Amino acid sequence: MLTEIDHVAIAVRDLDAAVEWYATRLGAREVHRERVESDGVEEALLAVAESYVQLLTPIREDSPVARFLERRGEGLHHVGYRVDDVASALAAIRDAGGRVIDEVPRPGSRGTTVAFVHPAAAFGTLIELVQEG
Ligand code: CO
Repeated sequence: MLTEIDHVAIAVRDLDAAVEWYATRLGAREVHRERVESDGVEEALLAVAESYVQLLTPIREDSPVARFLERRGEGLHHVGYRVDDVASALAAIRDAGGRVIDEVPRPGSRGTTVAFVHPAAAFGTLIELVQEG
């Protein structure tokens, strides 16, 4: 079902400082920047081979990422896996007894379609399914 790691998402307080750190220490280049109003975040995507590091920062106090930073501090927020078809992947996860956050796929950043799987039933890691287009 999973075809690739799409991105590893890291919650940070200062997006520009984090982008700068990854550029100067790891040579990772920013290839995309986007505000996702529906999630209350601004993200920067850094290219790593065919995958991305996604640095995420909240743009509103009520953003889930703002609550995450308050509770857990900066660090790994979720892992995004590429799939060919988010809707059928969601159905397969539900059929296998998995707990999903999004009952139906929704728009993600850079024109993708996404859905999240609940971390409480996935050994503590928030999982995002990502379909191109
Ligand atoms: Co993501």
